[in-house]
Amino acid sequence: MKLFSLLLTGTALFGFTSCGTAAANSMFSNEVSAVSLSETNRAVASAAENADLSSPYSYTLQDIRNLQDFLLTKPAVDDLTGKPYDMNSDGNWNAVDLTLMKRELLPVNDSDTLVIYFSRTGNTEKIAQYLIGLTDADSYVIEAAVPYTDADIKYQDDNCRANKEQNDKTVRPEIANPIASIDSYDTIFLGYPIWWGQEPRIIDTFLESYDFSDKTVIPFCTSGSSGIGTSEKNIKELVLIGNQLAGRRFPASATKDDVKAWYDTLPLNNEKSDNKLKISVNGTELTATLADSTAAKELAEKLKAEPVTVTLNEYGGFEKVGKLPWSLTKTDESIVTEAGDIMLYQGNQMTIFYNSNSWSYTKLGHIDNITGEELAKLFGEGNITVTLSY
Ligand SMILES: Cc1cc2nc3c(=O)[nH]c(=O)nc-3n(C[C@H](O)[C@H](O)[C@H](O)COP(=O)(O)O)c2cc1C
Repeated sequence: MKLFSLLLTGTALFGFTSCGTAAANSMFSNEVSAVSLSETNRAVASAAENADLSSPYSYTLQDIRNLQDFLLTKPAVDDLTGKPYDMNSDGNWNAVDLTLMKRELLPVNDSDTLVIYFSRTGNTEKIAQYLIGLTDADSYVIEAAVPYTDADIKYQDDNCRANKEQNDKTVRPEIANPIASIDSYDTIFLGYPIWWGQEPRIIDTFLESYDFSDKTVIPFCTSGSSGIGTSEKNIKELVLIGNQLAGRRFPASATKDDVKAWYDTLPLNNEKSDNKLKISVNGTELTATLADSTAAKELAEKLKAEPVTVTLNEYGGFEKVGKLPWSLTKTDESIVTEAGDIMLYQGNQMTIFYNSNSWSYTKLGHIDNITGEELAKLFGEGNITVTLSY
């Protein structure tokens, strides 16, 4: 039915005269009885209402027959050279013309963002749909060539397909409808459920099928309780990605507001990243929101000039602290720190907290979307090297 609506809308936009539209109406109604006539009539009526009658081309009854022949997959009897619906001017009317017509007539979503997801029971799909709504992105659903049945994902059964696949890192389930190209996209949100702590193997099939070396990839997932960590690491190790941003795990109950709150923190464009820093720790990219302090502004200015790498030493079971290459303006106040806080200490040292402490500091910023536990795990026990950039 889509084909008819498109075609009829298309022909109307090409400028059926009212006589031509009426002819189309009656002919399609009479002849194309296999499809819903009332729907066809409605589509024709709506096409007629929207028709651009100022077009110089007047459609003849033969034009209508030509279109009808195409719809009924009959060979064309007329030479179509010069007809406006012979879009590629080859004298025929066929699917190529229809594709070109579609491209010309339908609004093109020239989004540079693509939301791609695999979802077997709908939880990840829900999050993906929220994201698509927020970003106005294009979307693509990864479907398995051999669909996963309920028995395939019955993880209580050791021998179910999903469990067997997850137990073998080399398995690459075939994708049913591979997207032709991702070249036109800069930013790709990649969604999946967590299966045994990791991304489903079909996500690996997808990743290995395209070139992500100049893309920003943002993983997101849903799970019963597991975090996104291992899957993010797997993705990073599997293929070369231009810029992999910290991903996010959602519970099945996550709301649109939860997704928006996360999306708003992502450093995806300059407007949003004005108050954002990037922090790289042991190969993991984190973002931080700058505080509203003179020192934070000075830090941003310094980092705009060039990134800086700082060694931070473990201290007290709650922080990593190290010397900055420069002093910043101190406006110390007594603060109870939270995990993720980045503080200026004594004017020339930076402290990142993975636990709480009370002292006098100047706030530089706060690391986004990470718990104290996750931060402590990422930092490990000893000294660390972090790179800050703007
Ligand atoms: C084979 C299999 C393995 C799973 N493993 C985990 C797991 O390790 N940790 C977890 O929290 N949830 C696990 N789950 C639950 C799913 O991650 C969760 O239900 C998810 O939201 C499903 O997403 P979907 O509806 O998009 O398919 C597993 C589910 C399946 C089917």
